[in-house]
Amino acid sequence: MLAGKRILLIIGGGIAAFKSLDLIRRLRERGATVVPVLTKAAEEFVTPLSASALSAEKVYRDLFDLTDEAEMGHIELSRAADLVVVAPATADLMGKMAGGLANDLASTLLMATDKPVLIAPAMNVRMWQHPATQRNIATLKEDGILFVGPNEGNMACGEFGLGRMAEPLEIVAAVEAAIADGPLRGKHMLVTSGPTHEPIDPVRYIANRSSGAQGTAIATALSALGAEVTFVTGPADVARPQGVRVVEVQTAREMLAAVQAALPADGAVFAAAVADWRMAKAVDMKIKKDGKGSLPVLEFAENPDILATVSQMKKGRPALVVGFAAETDDVVKNATAKRKRKGCDWIVANDVSPETGIMGGAENAVVVITSDGVEEWPRMGKDQVATRLAAAMVQALE
Ligand code: C5P
Repeated sequence: MLAGKRILLIIGGGIAAFKSLDLIRRLRERGATVVPVLTKAAEEFVTPLSASALSAEKVYRDLFDLTDEAEMGHIELSRAADLVVVAPATADLMGKMAGGLANDLASTLLMATDKPVLIAPAMNVRMWQHPATQRNIATLKEDGILFVGPNEGNMACGEFGLGRMAEPLEIVAAVEAAIADGPLRGKHMLVTSGPTHEPIDPVRYIANRSSGAQGTAIATALSALGAEVTFVTGPADVARPQGVRVVEVQTAREMLAAVQAALPADGAVFAAAVADWRMAKAVDMKIKKDGKGSLPVLEFAENPDILATVSQMKKGRPALVVGFAAETDDVVKNATAKRKRKGCDWIVANDVSPETGIMGGAENAVVVITSDGVEEWPRMGKDQVATRLAAAMVQALE
C-alpha cells in the first residue's frame, strides 16, 4: 500500500505517455498522492487536463512559471515527494539526467531532488541499443537511479525489441518496492546473487548451475520490508528484482569490487555461487586445437572470497553478515566449519546434490546456523525461504 505517500510523476514525451495516465490511477487506487510534471514534448502526447483530472492535483509544466514558483518553488517541489518517478523516461530525458543538464522543469527537478528516483525507460529499440544510451544507463545506475523495464515486444513504431515501457502495474510494484514502509526502512541491505562467469578465453568460461532465484527472492523480500537494497548479480537466468539497485557483474573479482563500492550496508546476504577459481593468466585469443591431439592445460588461480573479505572487515563491517553454503555431503558439519572460517554471523546451508533438485529449482531446504546453534527449516519455496530469512534479519538488526 502507498497510503500517505507522495509521488512526483515526471511524464516524458513518448508514445508510452498514454500509459502514464493509467499509472496515475493505479497509484492513487493504492492511496498515493500523484503530482504530475509534464515536459513540453509530453504535452504532444497527453494533455495537462487529463493528467490533472486523473491526479486531482495541480500539474506542473514550466520552470519559469511565476505563479507556480510563488506557490511552491521547484526545489521544494522536488523534495516534497517520497519518490520521483519518470515514466516514460525518454532517451532525451535519460541523457539530460546522465549529463547533469537542467534546462527545463523536469530536468531541474531531477537535479534538485534529494529523494530516490525510479525511471521507466521507453524508446525505439535502436535508440535503446545506441552506445550513447547504453553509456547513460551505466552512469544512471552508478548514480543509484532505480530502473523498471524496459520490456521486449512490439513497438508503436512497428519494430520489435527492447524498449517498451514497463506496464503500469509493473511500475506500481517497483514504486512499492522503492518506498515500502516496513521495519527495514532506512536500512541499506546488500545481496549478492547468481553465478559468476570466469573467462577461459574470449569465447569460453567457467560457470555453475546457479539460477539466481534464491538471491533474487531475498532482495525482493528485504525490499518489501522497506530496505534500500543493492543487488549485485552475476549472469543469472531469472528476471532482476524490481525497485532495487541492480549492479551486473561477470566475474568474482568484479563482484568483490561492486560489493566494496556498495558499502556501507547494515546487513549483507551473500547468496551468489561465486566461482572459486579463475584462469591464472588471461588468454586474449581463442585457444585452438593443434590438430595433433594434445590437450590444453588450464592453470587456475584462486578467486577472492567476497564473504570472508566482508566478514573480516575491521572497519565498516555490516552489522549482520549472512553467507550460504551449498554442500553435497555432511551439510551441517561443513557449514558450521564454514561459518567459523569465513567469520560471518549466519550460514544458510543447503544440500545441492543433484537428486534434491535445489540448484536451479524453485524450492529449497535449508539449515540456518548461527552462534545460537542449528535450525532446520522444512523444504519450501525459495520465496518463502527468503521471506522467513528477511524476517529473521529484521529481528537480529533490531
Ligand atoms: O566457500 P564456499 O564457496 O562454499 O562459500 C559459500 C559462501 O561464500 C556463499 O555465501 C558465497 O556467496 C560466498 N563466497 C564468496 N566469494 C567466493 C566464494 C564464496 O562470497 N569467492
